[in-house]
Amino acid sequence: MRLLVTGGAGFIGANFVHRTVEDRPDVRVTVLDKLTYAGNRASLQPVADRIEFVHGDVADAGLVDRLVADSDLVVHFAAESHNDNSLRDPSPFVHTNVVGTFTLLEAVRRHGVRYHHISTDEVYGDLELDDPAKFTESTPYNPSSPYSSTKAGSDLLVRAWVRSFGVAATLSNCSNNYGPYQHVEKFVPRQITNVLDGVRPRLYGTGRNVRDWIHVDDHNSAVWTIIEKGEIGRTYLIGADGETDNRTVVETVLELCGRDPGEFDFVTDRPGHDLRYAIDSSRLRTELGWEPRYRDLRSGLAATVEWYRSNEDWWRPQKDATERAYARTETIVRP
Ligand code: NAD
Ligand code: DAU
Repeated sequence: MRLLVTGGAGFIGANFVHRTVEDRPDVRVTVLDKLTYAGNRASLQPVADRIEFVHGDVADAGLVDRLVADSDLVVHFAAESHNDNSLRDPSPFVHTNVVGTFTLLEAVRRHGVRYHHISTDEVYGDLELDDPAKFTESTPYNPSSPYSSTKAGSDLLVRAWVRSFGVAATLSNCSNNYGPYQHVEKFVPRQITNVLDGVRPRLYGTGRNVRDWIHVDDHNSAVWTIIEKGEIGRTYLIGADGETDNRTVVETVLELCGRDPGEFDFVTDRPGHDLRYAIDSSRLRTELGWEPRYRDLRSGLAATVEWYRSNEDWWRPQKDATERAYARTETIVRP
């Protein structure tokens, strides 16, 4: 099988490429990645001699057409992925997430290539803390941020290309991932690397916002399950029952690093900050038989702390610039 992975130098895409190369020697992998600030060739170094890497933009129609024409399957991870950045400057989000997805869809339509679209639970908006409901595949779209609205737009393009043009696509919407190779701008690696640097972790607002954490390998095993067993045109929600509030995550990271769990600061809240995400993944589990392997967030975080402790060469080059960008908008409200 000839597989084209977009965004394969990013966090989830790189982990997907690693697993695919290890588990599926019959798959020939090509990665298309623009190497934005979030893309890192070093994340693909362990498999560099077993894949083809193409440096380019998913919105480059000529390049995308040539690559898709030579593929049997496209898995589309490439995106601008960070909410805080989308509040600073939404424009690359529209370019990559909307125009990039449109460009890929036109190419898979022309060449009759199978397509899997990677998306997020954030398209559904947020839930109250005490709401017994979780997101399902039929929850109405209600995105809050420039990031999530461009992801919602891309999902709707995929659905329309399935219905109007018969494109053979599946979609997945996953909750918050953690694990190795995640950029230090994101919550978990930001706090781990802060603690490793002797800096107090930063909690937005009250710290009571809830995310539904899943290990990146579980996300990617679900993606392969959907590619192999999913029904064309369908959306599958991916989650591993990992609902935890941000304060608990920070306290756990501090404990795992041998620090006092109270050594963190509250900072100014993110504008429009979604309160809670929660995924009902029963369609994926009952219809396709998928189950997560990582069921204990604490031990998953412990392994992630160890990964960042052992891979400072990988994250150190991004750390200072990331913290400088945060410092422009972030103020400590109370310790
Ligand atoms: P990331 O920011 O770590 O990586 C994104 C990758 O896409 C980078 O390698 C970047 O260089 C590349 N890229 C950006 N613009 C590009 C362009 N125009 N052309 C080609 N490549 C481009 O993101 P991630 O966290 O790995 O997320 C991957 C996908 O998963 C995204 O679609 C995101 O919406 C989705 N997702 C992420 C999470 C999460 O918790 N991180 C959860 C659910 C869904
Ligand atoms: O739900 C899936 C989404 O999860 C993905 O679509 C996004 O690509 C991914 O970035 C993630 O979005 P979040 O906005 O939830 O993730 P982030 O890591 O930015 O923040 C997680 C929570 O932690 C959120 O409630 C904001 C909070 N936070 C974040 C940072 C960076 C803090 O309290 N302090 C911080 O320093």
